Amino acid sequence: MKKLIFEGAEAKTFLVEFNGKKAVEKERIPKKYREKKLDEKIRKERIKAEVNLLHKAKIAGIRTPIIYRIDYNKNSILMEWLNAKKIKEKINSMEKKEFIEIGKQISLLHLNSIVHGDLTSNNILIKKRKIFFIDFGLGFNSHKIEDFAVDLLGFKKTFLSSYPEKEQKWNWIEQGYLKSSKGKEVLKRIEEVEKRKRYL
Ligand SMILES: Nc1ncnc2c1ncn2[C@@H]1O[C@H](COP(=O)(O)OP(=O)(O)O)[C@@H](O)[C@H]1O
Ligand SMILES: [Mg+2]
Repeated sequence: MKKLIFEGAEAKTFLVEFNGKKAVEKERIPKKYREKKLDEKIRKERIKAEVNLLHKAKIAGIRTPIIYRIDYNKNSILMEWLNAKKIKEKINSMEKKEFIEIGKQISLLHLNSIVHGDLTSNNILIKKRKIFFIDFGLGFNSHKIEDFAVDLLGFKKTFLSSYPEKEQKWNWIEQGYLKSSKGKEVLKRIEEVEKRKRYL
């Protein structure tokens, strides 16, 4: 069994079977505009980075899929299938607590020097109040407040462009984020980044 579940700009994601269980296989697709050797190298590096970050997050206590196997010939990651829904699909039935939890979990990523790089309501999953993070393909390690601010601001922008009562919901996410020791500093930096952008 191999069923395409998502085709993005960088990767194809399939539902497959592994040891009799559902699993997810994410294959990085070649980029034709890049020279072949360079493209191979970049795809391998991104896979390595994604796996490292998924693992690092898991060790920090953040829910991410378990990695089963990395295939450097196919440039793919085989991982646990999370029986959870994208928050995008659940947002209207989610409660305040759950939004606060999302903010808390993002701050936990940052406290562990993990910048996700692509925080959207497609890359955060939910199952019975539990929050999961996937898709660390654009992520990196950093201690910088600026990087955390840009990470959270990316999420804020996509978040505020959709959903009913989005301001209230976003506020709850910020409330959760503020529970961390660096929360205030990061939110302040977001304001500065937004101001800077306005004058560009
Ligand atoms: N471990 C997983 N368990 C369940 N669904 C997943 C898993 N990984 C990815 N998906 C699904 O596949 C989609 C694409 O995966 P993602 O890693 O976000 O790739 P892309 O970089 O192309 O966005 C996700 O939005 C999600 O719906
Ligand atoms: Mg994604």
